[in-house]
Amino acid sequence: MSKKLYIKTWGCQMNVYDSQKMADVLAPLGYAPVDAPEGADLMILNTCHIREKATEKVFSDLGRLRDHKEAKAEQGEKALIAVAGCVAQAEGPVILQRAKYVDMVFGPQTYHRLPEMILSANGGERVVNTDFPVESKFDNLPASTTQGPSAMLSVQEGCDKFCTFCVVPYTRGAEYSRPVQQILDEAKKSVEQGAKEVMLLGQNVNAFHGEGEGGSWDLARLIDALAQINGLARIRYMTSHPSDMNDALIDAHGSIAKLMPFLHLPVQSGSDRILDLMNRKHTAAQYIDIIARVKKQRPDIALSSDFIVGFPGETDEDHAATVEMVKQIGFASCYSFKYSPRPGTPGAVMGGIVPEAVKDTRLHELQAILFAQQSEFNQRSVGKMMQVLFDRKGDKDGQLLGKSPWNQSVYVTAPERLYGEMVDVTIEKAFQNGMAGTIATTETTTKTPSQKKEAA
Ligand code: 5AD
Ligand code: SF4
Repeated sequence: MSKKLYIKTWGCQMNVYDSQKMADVLAPLGYAPVDAPEGADLMILNTCHIREKATEKVFSDLGRLRDHKEAKAEQGEKALIAVAGCVAQAEGPVILQRAKYVDMVFGPQTYHRLPEMILSANGGERVVNTDFPVESKFDNLPASTTQGPSAMLSVQEGCDKFCTFCVVPYTRGAEYSRPVQQILDEAKKSVEQGAKEVMLLGQNVNAFHGEGEGGSWDLARLIDALAQINGLARIRYMTSHPSDMNDALIDAHGSIAKLMPFLHLPVQSGSDRILDLMNRKHTAAQYIDIIARVKKQRPDIALSSDFIVGFPGETDEDHAATVEMVKQIGFASCYSFKYSPRPGTPGAVMGGIVPEAVKDTRLHELQAILFAQQSEFNQRSVGKMMQVLFDRKGDKDGQLLGKSPWNQSVYVTAPERLYGEMVDVTIEKAFQNGMAGTIATTETTTKTPSQKKEAA
């Protein structure tokens, strides 16, 4: 009889990928994923520690899972509760101490060891596994069985940059790149299973330096090799660091048609003083120069970034510099956050704490501009025809959701058989967060040069 596996995933794409991998590891043991915790035999919280009150969120979620565990126990059955991800990595012992009903806590580098951990937990042991093991989890994870039309592919993990606000170097460990062949094999497998797009993932994906034929390959060379795979139509990557945008990667945006015209390149602040305090290792002018060079290669590129407001020491002038930069560049989509001190990071003990109310005002001001830019970017697509890859079913019956080359979400009334296909869509309406269109039946609309490029 199959066992029920409930995984709740918070945070970034890397966590979504990891949850999928956990499901793959557990499938041979008879675990089948379910959408709700009721009656589950194994409940996993895959947590994120990057912002806000992560630990408190874990405990409130755990309280709910405990009720399901107790309901199961009343029927004479055992259910296991596990906390995975970066909060487990950072605060494993605290979790076990405070929540006696938790059976397992394990960090992001240990998922390949899940079968033995479950065995121990079923034997009554409380398992803690927050090692950074010598063997790579990637050598020990099974091929994916759960990917859709857009496959996530982890190529790099961890980070050595030590931005002063960030926990990633502590929770995900040192930077590691997977070997090229392993990545190419996984991409081919995904394409055989129907994927048309791969999203190359890594906390610092453009720092990629995997071992390949003839030595170390950079991300541009990897993308070029992936572009040779028949049946693979689109390649994307995230998240990048400005210092690792080398010339080859910038050129790839102009020369590799399958590389989508979208770049997520976090800048965090437009003030050199704050960038220095954040240990970002570049200036605002250097960031603007990178963007100009990428745009020269791919004039229609959709730009995306991350911003933090209210980092310790941030003055009104520093914030004004961020706003100025945003106005100068013009973004298609962005994430913006209030600074939240992470225990153990240098930022958490810096002076010049910015009051919450000031952070609120600055975030509000910045988001008003960013949201307006996003709406304008989407608005410019109205009336155009573009290729949409349908990668999700919509909430309404008969509706499919897909992605434009520029990473915009597109809603279309379309038959279910088009799920997983790339289809020409005429954009009818634009919103801040997406667009609505209809399947194009005639070639009345002229394609932009980039669309012709993608179709080629
Ligand atoms: N506070 C606020 N935002 C943060 N980020 C990372 N750490 C923090 C923090 N301590 C944001 C950064 C990063 C994104 C993934 O999360 O903008 O690029
Ligand atoms: Fe965190 Fe990204 Fe900085 Fe690395 S480069 S420390 S992951 S913000």
